[in-house]
Parts: sequence; C-alpha cells; structure tokens
Amino acid sequence: MFTRVKRVTVCGGGNAAHVVIPLLKEFGASVTLYTPFKNEKALFVAGAEKGGIELLTEDSKIIRGKPDVVTSDPVTAACADLVLMVLPAFAHGPTLEALSPHLPANVIIGAIPARSGYELQADYYLKKLPGEFIYYCGQTLPWACRIVEYGLKVKVLGLKENIGIAAVPNSVTADLAGWFSEAFQAKFEPMQNVLAVSLGNIGQIIHPGIMYGLLLKYEGNAWDKENIPLFYQGVTDEIALILESLSDEIITMTGMLMEKYSIALTGVKPLYKWLLDSYSNSIEDSSTLARAFSSNRSYRGLKIPVIEANDKYVPDFKSRYLTEDIPFGLLYSKAVAFMLCLETPVINKVIRQTEKWIGKTYLGANWTLSGPDIYEARIPQNYGINIINKLLQLNR
Ligand code: NAI
Repeated sequence: MFTRVKRVTVCGGGNAAHVVIPLLKEFGASVTLYTPFKNEKALFVAGAEKGGIELLTEDSKIIRGKPDVVTSDPVTAACADLVLMVLPAFAHGPTLEALSPHLPANVIIGAIPARSGYELQADYYLKKLPGEFIYYCGQTLPWACRIVEYGLKVKVLGLKENIGIAAVPNSVTADLAGWFSEAFQAKFEPMQNVLAVSLGNIGQIIHPGIMYGLLLKYEGNAWDKENIPLFYQGVTDEIALILESLSDEIITMTGMLMEKYSIALTGVKPLYKWLLDSYSNSIEDSSTLARAFSSNRSYRGLKIPVIEANDKYVPDFKSRYLTEDIPFGLLYSKAVAFMLCLETPVINKVIRQTEKWIGKTYLGANWTLSGPDIYEARIPQNYGINIINKLLQLNR
C-alpha cells in the first residue's frame, strides 16, 4: 500500500517542517509544503530559490532539499497521497477543517506528534467524506530540532531511539511504521491502537509535571538570562515522584481497560521505562528517575520556558508545555478515567494548578469535566463519546 505514496504534503512551517522536507526529498517523495501564513510561505519560497533547506543531522550529516510546491491554498495542499501534520495540537483542527473537504479518497493523513485525541478530531472530519481514509497518530516527534535560518537551515539536536505510531484501520500500522522509518531515517514502532498513542502521550506527563514541580513555589522573581533554571536537568527526586504518580495513574487506567474491555494497551509504557527505552544511549545515570532526566545528554541545557520582562526573564505560564499538554493531553487521560469512574488525585492536582496559570477553568467542583473552558479540550466527551465502548469502537 505504501509503495503508492509518491506525493506528500507537509503541514506546518516550523522547526519540524524544516527537518522533514529534506528527509522526504532524499527519500524521493514529491513534497508540497502547506502553511496558511503568507509570511511563512514567502520565506519558504525565498529559501527554495536559494537552494532550499540544509538539515544538519544529530550525527553531523548534511541533507539538502526544497519543497516542490509551497502553498497556502488548501485545495492544492490536499492533492496528496499522504498528509503529514507537524504542528502544535491546537493547529490540527483548523488544518483538518481546511483540507478535509478537498482530500482525495484513500489519502493517508495524520500528525506527528499527535498528542492526545487526534483520532477524535480526524474521525470527526473524515467520516463526513465519501470514500475510505486512513489516519495515523505518531506518539512523539523523533527529533529535538531548531531552525537556524528560516527556510534555509535547521539543526537536529537529538534523535529519539523509538517512536510509536498507530493507524486507523489498525491493519496498516505495521506498513506505515516501515514507511515512516525509511522516509525519516528513524525507528518508528507500531503501537497497538490510537488509544495507546493518546494515553501514551508522554508530553502530557513530562511537561505539565515538571512545570508544576519547578514552579509551584515560584515567588515572582525575575532571572538574568544565564540564571534561567534548567527544565529537565532541574528534575529533583521530589519532582520525579510527581511524574511517577502521574504515570502510575495512567498505567492503572490502561490496566483497567485491558482487563475489563480486552483492549491491548501494553504499548503505553510507564514513564521511567519510556525514558530508558527512548534515550538509552544518552542517559549517563539511570539509577533513579530524577537522575535519568538530569543525566540525559539530549536534555542538556534546556531551560524552563520564559518571557522577557524588563531585560530579565520570568516563567512563561502560557507556554505550550501547558497550553498544549493540558487540553490536548492530561485532560484526555482525565476524561477517560472519568468514564471509568477512576480516581486520579495527582492528575487532578496538576490540572487544577496549571489551569490557573493558563487562565482557564477546565474542571468543575468535585473534579468533574464541567469548567467553562472544558469545550476547548480534545476529550471524548466533546465528540459525543461518553462511554468507553464507544471510544473503543474507534480502535477496533
Ligand atoms: P513550531 O512552533 O516551530 O511551528 C509551528 C508551526 O505551526 C508554525 O510555523 C505554523 O506554520 C503552524 N501553525 C501554527 N498555528 C497554526 C494554525 N492555527 N493553523 C495552521 N498552522 C499553524 O513547532 P515545531 O517545533 O515545528 O513543533 C511541531 C510540534 O512538535 C509541536 O507540537 C511541538 O510541541 C512538537 N515537538 C517539537 C520539538 C522540537 O524540538 N521542535 C520536539 C518535540 C515535540
């Protein structure tokens, strides 16, 4: 099936898009870049005129490539065999909405990283259309990457050793993982189903959990640039305990789902195991979870997200670590636990604190999904799914 994939549309104009374009060109695909933003389009066109994007890989290889087409037109963008969204989760909805009316039958469409609940949104937009569709969800982005010069140069800082991926229908997942591994020179591994990707979204644990741990006692001080606290290397034993408790609550839930509903979810790994599996070559001391974070060379030097204030820096409480990983992450897990009547005291505590920082109210009294902003969260209940069996229909 994947031998027919010749035309790929990449949605997104950020760091990740800069990495996937040269890789896809080296792989031999025809690449259309879709960004709705005219300034990004102009910069990609200018970059292509100068020879395209130079990708510096983590092992210092240089790969060059330019998109064949750069467009802000959804009709042109939809003309593809495979669509790849490398976007923040809040952009998935607008992109699916723009492209879906124009997609050809049998197109393969998905997101990396999908975060949690991409399957709900994909199903919502694609099921309205005639014909068969395949959609996929990637668990994480393979690379830590940063643009060096827009449209021209990007650097990969680190490569994960395994990236989970799942598709609907399930039967194509193994072929899809093979195609992605070859096209992106990274090891994509089939996950059992898209629910495993949503519940196994590791960003939902790491990002809000570390923000919560590092900033709960923040007293309003501003830092000089060189004193901005480290993010992953700042994980203490106390913060690791919060992270482990978040992970335990999700693993308890997957255990219950496997036992009561016979759905395969062993691919949702406990955080510690995920970290060791993903970074075995870059962790220097794996003796504790805190040490595995702080001694991971791929995380070295990464600071907490900040904003500038009077030549100093203060925490960015509205960073994607919260605005993406709460409504498109931890709230999904909370919502599935809610359907199972499963208590999640640590998830509740982290959401309650971080929603204040974001300026939203997702949870109501008694930890119910009834806050005024809950409609923004990508949770099953917002797609009319209130019972587990209905959610599992998407996965079987
Ligand atoms: P980015 O911030 O560099 O790029 C975001 C792009 O999304 C923008 O350039 C724009 O083209 C597009 N976009 C934004 N709002 C949009 C909207 N409303 N409609 C359509 N398009 C819109 O992000 P980056 O770094 O490329 O990351 C993509 C995803 O991968 C994010 O979810 C990020 O959290 C995740 N990720 C990134 C890593 C990295 O090292 N860059 C590492 C791990 C995950």
